[in-house]
Amino acid sequence: MAVKEIMDSLAKQTVNNKKLSELVKDIKLVGDKLELVFMLPNKNLEKEIREKALSVLKDVEGLQDVEISFTEMGQPVQSPAFHRTRLPGVKHLIVVGSGKGGVGKSTVATNIALSLSKLGYKVGLLDGDIYGPSIPTMLGLKNQRVEVDKFNRIIPAEAFGMKVMSVGFLLPSEDTPLIWRGPMLMKALTQFLFDVKWGSLDFLVLDLPPGTGDVQLTLAQTVEIDGAIVVTTPQDVALADVKKAVVMFKEVGIPVLGVIENMAYFVCPESGNKYYIFGKGRVLAFAQAYGLKVLGSVPIEPEIAETSDSGVPIVESSANSQSAKAFLSIAKIIAEELERR
Ligand SMILES: Nc1ncnc2c1ncn2[C@@H]1O[C@H](COP(=O)(O)OP(=O)(O)OP(=O)(O)O)[C@@H](O)[C@H]1O
Ligand SMILES: [Mg+2]
Repeated sequence: MAVKEIMDSLAKQTVNNKKLSELVKDIKLVGDKLELVFMLPNKNLEKEIREKALSVLKDVEGLQDVEISFTEMGQPVQSPAFHRTRLPGVKHLIVVGSGKGGVGKSTVATNIALSLSKLGYKVGLLDGDIYGPSIPTMLGLKNQRVEVDKFNRIIPAEAFGMKVMSVGFLLPSEDTPLIWRGPMLMKALTQFLFDVKWGSLDFLVLDLPPGTGDVQLTLAQTVEIDGAIVVTTPQDVALADVKKAVVMFKEVGIPVLGVIENMAYFVCPESGNKYYIFGKGRVLAFAQAYGLKVLGSVPIEPEIAETSDSGVPIVESSANSQSAKAFLSIAKIIAEELERR
């Protein structure tokens, strides 16, 4: 392996009509490790250059590690606040949020993602709840630990045909608390978006942590998000917080696809009667007041909680349950809406 061989392989890829080899500003080979510095024609191209370079370099025999960095040229690099990058290879990035904790976001995100996968789409699920990741449990991936390829790129886990990533995979065990603070968490999340080998996906579903804080805002400014789904229960306390989430999404220019009413009612197994435990009609009234669609209502089913704990989501374990049908119908609405654009 020699520098020439590396340059030849870089010449096989082009970005903006330029061979990658022409964009190399600095190249250093130390043993089996390569350090490359590219001139960046513009900030948008960082991901593309990195990916294309890695795609050819991985075939260079003997090369074990690559470190890629960039130096600017041409126009000044824009501030990230005004510049959102599109996730390469991902057709639709959707986020699942709510102002309030515990309303069922992760349950909804998981079951919607799985429903989309059952509809035949290629789906990824990213657990953005860096404070309290629950998706590993919900998908039976509690013992999963992070895996990397020879270039140190993170390989997502697989469950039920979906690609899955969670900060939980980085922790030594399930009960280890995460002691990182804000900036590190943010960095982890952007890395999960950009540096995980998602491959090509039709949908990447991102389960957000509760609230309308820094994570949500930074994320909204970093990556192009195609739509947000807001989860609420019919209680006033939940709706009050959800309003904040809706306002936040609107302010940062993320289209809200609609609202999902979770724990909408309970069907008595003996009588078949519906009981609206947290109130009826409030979510619809709320959605109308904000010009939003109600994408669907998911009943309270004890089986949902059981299946979350056992690691097999309800759309997989009981496809005929009311909630599984609701999730599937919501997934169809979302797919139609986004594929129409
Ligand atoms: N429709 C439902 N019927 C019965 N149980 C449900 C339903 N939706 C969610 N749950 C249960 O409620 C609990 C909270 O759900 P989940 O973890 O999805 O909420 P969350 O909004 O993601 O919470 P957090 O804010 O902590 O991330 C879980 O135990 C879940 O199994
Ligand atoms: Mg959650």
